[in-house]
Amino acid sequence: MIITIDGPAASGKSTVARKLAAKLNADFLDTGAMYRAVTYAAIKAGVELTSPYQILETMNNTQFEFTSSVGGMRVQMDGVDITEEIRNPHITASARFIAGSSSARQRLVQMQRKFAEGHGRIVAEGRDQGTVAFPHADIKFYLTADLDERAKRRLGELEAKGAGQDIERVKEAIEKRDESDRKRSDGPLKAADDAITVDTTNLTIEQVVEKLLAFVKEKCSANQ
Ligand code: DC
Repeated sequence: MIITIDGPAASGKSTVARKLAAKLNADFLDTGAMYRAVTYAAIKAGVELTSPYQILETMNNTQFEFTSSVGGMRVQMDGVDITEEIRNPHITASARFIAGSSSARQRLVQMQRKFAEGHGRIVAEGRDQGTVAFPHADIKFYLTADLDERAKRRLGELEAKGAGQDIERVKEAIEKRDESDRKRSDGPLKAADDAITVDTTNLTIEQVVEKLLAFVKEKCSANQ
């Protein structure tokens, strides 16, 4: 069973996907973490982030391992755990270069499908999971939320890490990421035609998880 959850930055996808996966005893595929891991590797290798060739070279020369765990997905690069490092704001800001490289995207989509083959049930979260990576997924969700609400949520996460910022700057950064996610030619951010769109602006994480769970149960009982 494959469930996809796509949506813009700070729409609550990751937390919801992780919790939904836990409730369904499924594995969580955090595809944003894959883009982040390649970004981290490319920066570490000192390559030109605007060069698709150099990015691909980095991917060829690096061993990545993505493991589903209760707390989320663990990421290893050449045997070293980089799960925390890839959340650095510097990586967040630079990931758009990898996301904008068609050859890197193709390679990552292959890795995502391979992950799905090796796991019975997955909840895959990202921008293009229902449209490109898994067009035949069993259930597709698209989560949205107002920009103000998303900025508030992101600010809360940053403050929890002791990295408080001005709300307007957070908002600007999200808008910039939204724009580059929507405008790229390959795997742009958009809802699949058959996705269920859920506006999370006025919902708590638990309410969103319950809502999605209800759709999954309905679908499963309809298929029986
Ligand atoms: O969801 P996130 O913030 O961890 O994503 C990190 C970056 O990767 C962000 O720039 C969007 C991009 N991304 C993508 O292009 N396609 C995906 N399936 C997942 C993430």
